[in-house]
Amino acid sequence: MSVNTNQAQTTKPLRVAVLVSGSGSNLQVLIDAMQAGTLPIEIVGVISNRDDAYATTRASAASIPVAILSHVASGKRMGIKTFERHASEQLTEWQPDLIVLAGFMRVLSGSFIDNAPAPMINLHPSLLPAYKGLDTHQRVIQSGERHHGCSIHVVTADLDAGAVLTQAVLDINQKDTADGLQKRVQKLEHQLLPWTVLLLAKGVLSLKDDEAISQQSIFLPTLPLKLYLED
Ligand code: GRF
Repeated sequence: MSVNTNQAQTTKPLRVAVLVSGSGSNLQVLIDAMQAGTLPIEIVGVISNRDDAYATTRASAASIPVAILSHVASGKRMGIKTFERHASEQLTEWQPDLIVLAGFMRVLSGSFIDNAPAPMINLHPSLLPAYKGLDTHQRVIQSGERHHGCSIHVVTADLDAGAVLTQAVLDINQKDTADGLQKRVQKLEHQLLPWTVLLLAKGVLSLKDDEAISQQSIFLPTLPLKLYLED
């Protein structure tokens, strides 16, 4: 990827576009931090693939431009190619430095990812590379895991398989249910996402190209960087 997210030499906020499908609690955390001045970003726009996503209400309330590219408009399902064409035009107009998938539930094609106007990161509710895909909380309990958490990774054509940048970890209790675990993990996400975006905005982490990602370990402990938090 050729876009440099390194903001160390500039005071300009990082231009961030966010893709959502649901409640948007993670989007809200970014909005709050931006408005509080604790995160040097400008959220330049939000794309939702659902017209009923509460995330769009949150964005509008913060006067952030919203594009709804509903996967079911007028009873007709919008194919992924059409979604990607509209999303690509919108992103090109917004000129983001970084694209954040925050609870975005459509699988994007390799050509969309490779041609996007900025690097893309995704928030995933597991300690990748373990438990890619859906129903992660249920699956970790069924497998008797002792630890769980969330990861932020670079988006590539392979689902949930790009370089893992950061993770937050929690211990699984014997009494944990999938619903309870989902809530505990989401509390971690709300800390991990702004922390990771801050590292990118400050140029501590770079997504300039694959080589830069792999060479970060020269300056930092081996990726992923881990947050151990009280949840
Ligand atoms: C997050 O918990 C994330 O792990 C999952 O979708 C959820 C989105 O939540 N992929 P929200 O829309 O940010 O509230």
